[in-house]
Amino acid sequence: MLRIEENAPLQHLNTFGVAATARYLVTLRHPEALAALSRGLPAADCPPLVMGGGSNVLFTRDFPGVVILNRLAGIRVVAADDRHVRVQAGAGEDWDGFVRYCLERGWYGLENLILIPGTVGAAPVQNIGAYGVELKDVFEELEGWDLPTGRRLRLTAAECRFGYRDSVFKGPLQDRFLITAVTLRLGLQPCPATEYRDLQEELRGVPHGERHPRAVGEAVVRLRRRKLPDPREMGNAGSFFKNPVVSRARFEDLQARCGPLPAYDLGPAGVKLAAAALIERSGWKGKHRGRCGVHDRQPLVLVNLGGACGQEILELAEAVRAAVHQAFGVWLEPEPRIL
Ligand code: FAD
Ligand code: EPU
Repeated sequence: MLRIEENAPLQHLNTFGVAATARYLVTLRHPEALAALSRGLPAADCPPLVMGGGSNVLFTRDFPGVVILNRLAGIRVVAADDRHVRVQAGAGEDWDGFVRYCLERGWYGLENLILIPGTVGAAPVQNIGAYGVELKDVFEELEGWDLPTGRRLRLTAAECRFGYRDSVFKGPLQDRFLITAVTLRLGLQPCPATEYRDLQEELRGVPHGERHPRAVGEAVVRLRRRKLPDPREMGNAGSFFKNPVVSRARFEDLQARCGPLPAYDLGPAGVKLAAAALIERSGWKGKHRGRCGVHDRQPLVLVNLGGACGQEILELAEAVRAAVHQAFGVWLEPEPRIL
């Protein structure tokens, strides 16, 4: 039931399009195969890596363990009342396809997260976010499998410890918990979130009464197509760096030294700086280095210009981080998983 491939190529399985191999690769299509997977998992020197769409990973070398490609499918309504519907999706479902499926049925809340590449199962891993909405805003619970013990578990939002591009799956549960299904709580009444500045501008011509979630989804699609490179045309993993959060005192000191900087006030949590602006002002926007570079419209995105290897992209990222640190005293943290 479970075919294990050896020395499997990964180039077509990651959106950076970098060449690498996995010592073993298995494709998981049925939950029943999980037990066979646990019995068939090779020895302890062979660590597991769960992968969905490969849109938030950078391979800098061949992977020495077993890549488990999550293709668990299925979407079903688990509960509904007159205001909400609880929808469960298999972790291997395509995220954007799932968002459109919900929008078409009048289940609202995901419209701002349209067109994010990858799978449903990876969405909780970094608590995906865009245009003023994060996964945690609609999250109900998830199911998964603790690989070392073989236990099936159900986790609540509190147990997932969601933060900005963060969760327990990037911490203690990394590489040991395989998410099999995610349940979201979606609204049956339109209640679109349109506060994000760029989204407000994109919707300026649309009268308030016509700002239906479908119109919001279409606006987000237009914004994303304009701003972000399509990985099918130019390898990338979306934002390569997170927006750094600093204290208000540090922010004021930075502005006094460096002039006005775009930023977002998080209240007592501090101030979120626009890393794109820091990179642009460090002189790296649109710069190339060998076969990779910093995107010319969105400097948070590093791009594979053709044939770059993961190590080259990592070296470019280090050069950008060093330049930003030199100019602003802030270390940018990578967003994708570097392997
Ligand atoms: P993968 O890259 O396959 O995996 C990412 C991580 O999740 C790995 O550590 C992996 O081990 C883990 N993982 C994956 N599936 C599972 C599972 N079932 N169980 C346990 N762990 C798992 N992100 C945003 O938040 N907002 C954006 O606006 C956004 N825009 C993007 C635009 C572009 C053009 C691209 C290329 C990426 C963008 N991203 C964005 C990043 C990316 O789309 C998300 O992080 C997405 O959730 C990754 O999904 P994936 O299936 O490709 O994950
Ligand atoms: N900016 C510049 N120069 C530029 C581009 C942007 O100075 O060339 C400044 C502008 O002031 C702008 C600000 O950066 O207002 C923020 O830009 P944008 O709204 O495009 O958002 P971002 O911070 O670059 C974040 C997420 C994206 C998400 C968008 C929309 C992170 C790390 N990135 O990007 O997520 O789609 O907001 O919400 O938080 C991803 O995680 O992979 C990703 C693409």
